[in-house]
Amino acid sequence: MKKVFINGYGSIGSRIIQFIKDDPEIELVGIGKYSPDSKVRDALDRGYKVYVPEKNQNAFSDFSIAGNIESALDESDLVIDASPGGTGFKNKKLFYEPRNIFSIYQGGETIDGENAVSDILFNSRVNYNDAVGKKHVMQGSCNVTGMGRILEPLRKNFGSSIKRFDVTLVRRWADIEQTDKDVTDTIELTQSPHHGEDVKSYFGKDSPLFVRAIKVPTRQMHLHIMDIRFNDNIPSVDELHDIFKNEYGVATLWAAKGTKDIRDFAEKLDFSFKDTNMIHIHANMTQKIDDTIQIMYSDDQTGIVIPENHMLMQAMLFEKSYEDAAKHTEKLFNMSKKKELLESNFGKN
Ligand SMILES: NC(=O)c1ccc[n+]([C@@H]2O[C@H](COP(=O)([O-])OP(=O)(O)OC[C@H]3O[C@@H](n4cnc5c(N)ncnc54)[C@H](OP(=O)(O)O)[C@@H]3O)[C@@H](O)[C@H]2O)c1
Repeated sequence: MKKVFINGYGSIGSRIIQFIKDDPEIELVGIGKYSPDSKVRDALDRGYKVYVPEKNQNAFSDFSIAGNIESALDESDLVIDASPGGTGFKNKKLFYEPRNIFSIYQGGETIDGENAVSDILFNSRVNYNDAVGKKHVMQGSCNVTGMGRILEPLRKNFGSSIKRFDVTLVRRWADIEQTDKDVTDTIELTQSPHHGEDVKSYFGKDSPLFVRAIKVPTRQMHLHIMDIRFNDNIPSVDELHDIFKNEYGVATLWAAKGTKDIRDFAEKLDFSFKDTNMIHIHANMTQKIDDTIQIMYSDDQTGIVIPENHMLMQAMLFEKSYEDAAKHTEKLFNMSKKKELLESNFGKN
């Protein structure tokens, strides 16, 4: 049995632990918490062991704390870092590297330059095998993960017929549970978005992929607007939809009016955290115009990376094959069932 510690209990950390606690192959050490706020109580009420920084233990005297993060890391085989963007790199240098433990980092980190946490950015659909046995790996961000799930099947099926991809990322402002974060009434322009370069790290530096991004005042998912331009052999809209029929973590919907419809459905069916853990092609918006097919898909910002972390953990800790890891992840996440339910509820009338 391998021991795993989750460092950070925010939007991502709290979700990861919820699934990993049910994994019979894993012994959960606990979570790392840094502020003595109401989320400490939340974690304790759920039965998790809470560890805090050694130098700040006094601030948590009102809570029943299991110990300090440093000693929790000493007994862990792998840490999933779910800290605010950029902090993962500092944690790597200060805590993970000196202990020589397997470490997973989230999408707010980088694989470029002097603050690189890893030399690989993981997307299970594209480069699962490259992560097998690696010590430090970064999981792509929600948008980067979503793009990989769309781009890889397109590349596999249409290859050199594709001339270029132009993508506009419409990013959500905040997560549903980040109630302390105001959603500002503006459309923010994202200068030099990292997403295109991140995708190219696994898709190829010279990929004809052009990404621009804006941020809009919603908590209800990201939306990607993608134009796929072809050289020749332009598929029909149906042929394009067909390639996603059996894609893991991609649902094809026809009748969702907006992203909140999908979240509301997830809530109604009691999906964990109201997450679908996938992307949703809004098939009613697909259009073919001359040499171009335009598609739109929404990306469950918080949920999509959670099964990815689980896949990555299995590659690093157990060196499993993709098929074995996917089978095990499916047992915990039930993504195929969720896809079926979504597709039937938002089906073609
Ligand atoms: N939210 C998303 O939709 C999303 C999607 C994909 C990827 N990501 C990435 O996932 C990472 C975490 O994002 P998030 O949205 O979960 O952030 P978040 O909700 O702000 O949570 C961050 C957590 O990190 C903890 N923390 C503070 N200092 C820390 C340290 N030195 N070491 C470890 N943990 C520390 C915080 O603890 P306290 O609250 O106790 O201070 C908090 O629990 C980021 O890299 C982000 O880019 C986020």
